[in-house]
Order: sequence, then C-alpha cells, then structure tokens
Amino acid sequence: MAETVLLVEHLYKAFDSLKAVNDVSFEVKAGEIFGLLGPNGAGKTTTINMICSLLPGDSGSVSINNMPINSQNSTLRKQMGVVPQDIALYEELNAIDNLVFWGRLYGLSGPDLKNRTTALLTKVGLLERAKEPVSRYSGGMKRRLNLAIGLLHEPDLLLLDEPTVGIDPQARHQMLDLIRETAQRGTAILYTTHYMDEAEQLCDRLAIMDHGHILAMGSLSELETLVGERRILQIGGSFMTDQIDKLLPTLSEIQLINRDQTQLTLSIPFSMAIGQILAVLQEHDLQVEHLDIKNPNLDSVFLKLTGREFKD
Ligand SMILES: Nc1ncnc2c1ncn2[C@@H]1O[C@H](COP(=O)(O)OP(=O)(O)O)[C@@H](O)[C@H]1O
Ligand SMILES: [Mg+2]
Repeated sequence: MAETVLLVEHLYKAFDSLKAVNDVSFEVKAGEIFGLLGPNGAGKTTTINMICSLLPGDSGSVSINNMPINSQNSTLRKQMGVVPQDIALYEELNAIDNLVFWGRLYGLSGPDLKNRTTALLTKVGLLERAKEPVSRYSGGMKRRLNLAIGLLHEPDLLLLDEPTVGIDPQARHQMLDLIRETAQRGTAILYTTHYMDEAEQLCDRLAIMDHGHILAMGSLSELETLVGERRILQIGGSFMTDQIDKLLPTLSEIQLINRDQTQLTLSIPFSMAIGQILAVLQEHDLQVEHLDIKNPNLDSVFLKLTGREFKD
C-alpha cells in the first residue's frame, strides 16, 4: 500500500458569510493522481491555497508526510511543488532564468540545477524558445513553464490548479503525459479541474466538489455506480406545476432528480423504454420539446448529486 503523502481533514474557510470550503477531507497517496473536480467557484483554489499555506484556514488540518503544515516550516515547503491557477512568472526574464530563480529558492545550484532546467524545458517543449523573455510567450507556453517550475525540485507532492486552462490540444496532451509520468515516479498529485474529460482520463481517484462541499469521492467506476444501472433523462418543454404533480406518482421505478417549468430531470432504469415514458407524458398533455439521455458518466453523476448540469 502506497504511503499517504497529503492528508486533509475537515478544512473550512469562509469569506464573510460565504462558505468557500466547507468540511473538506481527503488524502493523496504516493504515486496517485487525485482530482478535485468542480465548477467555477466550487472551492478548489481556496482548498489548494490552504494546503500550501498561502491562505490560513478557519479550521481543520493539513499534513504532508505525516507532519502538520505550518507556514514557518521550510522543509515542508520543499516537499511540495505548486502550479497556481494564476500564472506566476517573471515576464521580463526568459524561461531559463525563471527556472534558475525558483531552483535557487529551493536550494538547487550548479550543474544539478542546469541539468534539471534543460531536461524540464525539453519535456515541456520549450527548449527552443527558452532564451526569449516570458512576456513573448503564449498563455499555453506560460502554463507549461509554470509546470516545469513546480517539478524542478522533484517534490513528493505536486499541487496543480487547473494547469491546462487556455492551452492548445497538443500541448495539453503533452502536459497530461508529463503529469502521468511524474505520478509514476511516485509523486503524489492533487489536480484540480473543471474539465470532466480530464478528470476521467487522468485521475486515479477524484472528489466532486460543489459550493465548498465534497459531494462524492472515489475512482471513476466507483462514482459511476452512484448512478447505478440507470440513465438520466432530461425532458425539456413547458410544464405546468400541477401537470407534473399529477404525472410523477404514475411513474413508478422512476426517480425525480429535479423539476421546474421548463425541464424535468429523471433517473430511469436501463431496461425502461423511452417510448413508454413519452406515452405517459402525452397522456398527461405535457408538451415535450426535447429529450436528452445520459448514460452513467461523471456528467450524470454530477446531475444526480446536484440536480444541475455541470456547466460554468
Ligand atoms: N479572497 C476571497 N474573498 C472573497 N471571496 C472569495 C475569495 N476567494 C475566493 N472567494 C470565493 O470563494 C468561492 C470559491 O472560490 P475558489 O476557491 O476560487 O473556487 P474554484 O477554484 O473552485 O473556482 C467562490 O465563490 C469565490 O468567489
Ligand atoms: Mg480555481
């Protein structure tokens, strides 16, 4: 069993009355890619900022390699690499000088620092442009350089906050490969994203976060079993409240997930024919304008948990 590198227990953070992080607990083991998946405003960045002591939490605890974090503890800082959501680079410096600056802060120097710098620039595909000032880089290039900085001192724990936003598909692919490779070498990775497909492809385990809460946590297949052998059916149209009230009791085996006057969201067994449901809707004079069926995936898990679609 791999060791726990990051342990987060009952973290809370409020900004005035807004509970940005509300009882968040999870762990990340060596070699594991753990995803925090949630829409904008879910509390992902606030969680990461507390883990790397950028932001004091209201309560709860964070330990890295079994040691509680403390902003004064520089050895813990060295065990952690952070790739922030807002790019943190010296624009007037080139890529090499940015890496050297951060490398020195982490106590690296000499040929070791030089070798790591070159190796990482190669891996993130920036070697050819490494001597140009960062101010000339595209958003995607800056993101790749930020990732290289996070990896420079080979931390035990890597925190990645939406590292692929604004990046082109090829660079994204390359970046995800590099993240996988980093995990294979034993690094524990915390990866936040609002891209479901990334969470599906990349993460060994993930937590679905919304309004500061973790709603569900597990491997992709564990999460998908939350929807069970069922499909999610969304029916759009214009419905009267009393029409729906009369309709629902007639639909046995069907669970109501959400309802309003323009949309009904239902969970239905796989075996149930859609035609059967449409016939019942017609009997009740419901005007159906469109229909959408979702098989179990993270989308339908989110819908099941929140009654909302995963959108930003
Ligand atoms: N410094 C702050 N002051 C006030 N509200 C904040 C601050 N930082 C974040 N928030 C709010 O906390 C919530 C969570 O934000 P954040 O952690 O950035 O979410 P995410 O990274 O998942 O998009 C949001 O509603 C956001 O507006
Ligand atoms: Mg964020």
